[in-house]
Amino acid sequence: MASLKTSILGIEFENPFLLASAPPTALIESIDKAFEMGWGGAVLKTITPDDLEMIEASPRYTVMKEKGKVIGFQNIELLSHKTIQYWCDGIRYLKEKHPTKVIIASIMSPVDRKCWHNLVHKLNETPIDAYELNFSCPHGMPEKGIGMAIGTTTEISTLITGWVKDVATKPVFVKLTPNVTDITRISKAVERANADGFSAINTVQGFMGINLDTLEPNLCVDGYTTYGGCSGEIVRPIGLRCVAQIRQHSNLPILGMGGITNWQDAVQYLAVGSDAVQICTEVMINGYGIINGLKSGLQNYLEGKGFNNISELKDIAVKKITSHEKLNKKYHLYPSVDRDKCVSCGKCVKICSESEHQALGLYDNNRVVSLDIEKCVGCSLCSHVCPKEAIKMCS
Ligand SMILES: Cc1cc2nc3c(=O)[nH]c(=O)nc-3n(C[C@H](O)[C@H](O)[C@H](O)COP(=O)(O)O)c2cc1C
Repeated sequence: MASLKTSILGIEFENPFLLASAPPTALIESIDKAFEMGWGGAVLKTITPDDLEMIEASPRYTVMKEKGKVIGFQNIELLSHKTIQYWCDGIRYLKEKHPTKVIIASIMSPVDRKCWHNLVHKLNETPIDAYELNFSCPHGMPEKGIGMAIGTTTEISTLITGWVKDVATKPVFVKLTPNVTDITRISKAVERANADGFSAINTVQGFMGINLDTLEPNLCVDGYTTYGGCSGEIVRPIGLRCVAQIRQHSNLPILGMGGITNWQDAVQYLAVGSDAVQICTEVMINGYGIINGLKSGLQNYLEGKGFNNISELKDIAVKKITSHEKLNKKYHLYPSVDRDKCVSCGKCVKICSESEHQALGLYDNNRVVSLDIEKCVGCSLCSHVCPKEAIKMCS
């Protein structure tokens, strides 16, 4: 039997699936339920000093759907509204009831050494397993000079990581924002400041569009909106890229996230360098119960591949990422059309012609697709647009 257990910085995880810091981890009683249902751990909704003013807007969510299914999410929610005492009591309660579950305290504070120390001193007294520094919330908090305002500068990220490391008695993960030109500039800087690991990614700053009838923003608060944080499936390529880039420059543990909806997505995050994964949006859409499919799917996959545990899968895909310059330019694939599947719709011919290459044509009374090998650059566009999946790229 392949094992889902893993050990990160001496913390034992019974499985690599954690709830990300968000509404599903905003209440102790809900986390209690999630643990009963099999989640390996939870990152608490970000805890802040009790006197930090946070006034929420309504509505705070909007979505992007495809055929009725939510594929993208946008929020303008702020942080936990519970007191530090609520969290300290709750952490003790949860740990006593669920000693094998991992609890990570996400924290954020104004850029003030005393404030950060006060938060950490109080949480040091609880049985949490680690800290996660929220340097990455993209809305609301940056206007106060915190959240993403911290995680987009190396100087402030380094400064605060150092402050926390000076007093934290547990490992410190830094949660990074994808809203930077080069995420490794920040990851390298906080690693130099002795961060123990990374969480990536927080939400991607975006604008989810406008209502064509009213011409108002989709996420409309009394006629106005603000740029929000996008999450869910639409951000997965960005999350995978960020995790892989961090891994290419660091051996520290990474808690990967961004658009994980099922075990297949989790496998991808592990293969690009994550040590464990976090999930938020999919839980908000479908509930804690998704954990069963995540665990059984990953377990079956590992066994099918002959892996004994998740560390044998970790990093495998990172080795396959290189620079464009180093890609083998002598490698060339050509389209091969399965004539049983092809319905001679001509879409591949039209698209190839209108997207530069003009390598495909139709002959035999417009029934058979023909290829001009001299003109074909092997781009693969035809194979992706074919409505019948009749085109495969072959050497
Ligand atoms: C409604 C909502 C609230 C969130 N609140 C927090 C938060 O308080 N602290 C934090 O670090 N991340 C927060 N996040 C970001 C998530 O933890 C996660 O990084 C992001 O949503 C990407 O993962 P996903 O695609 O699985 O949702 C929030 C996300 C959403 C959608």
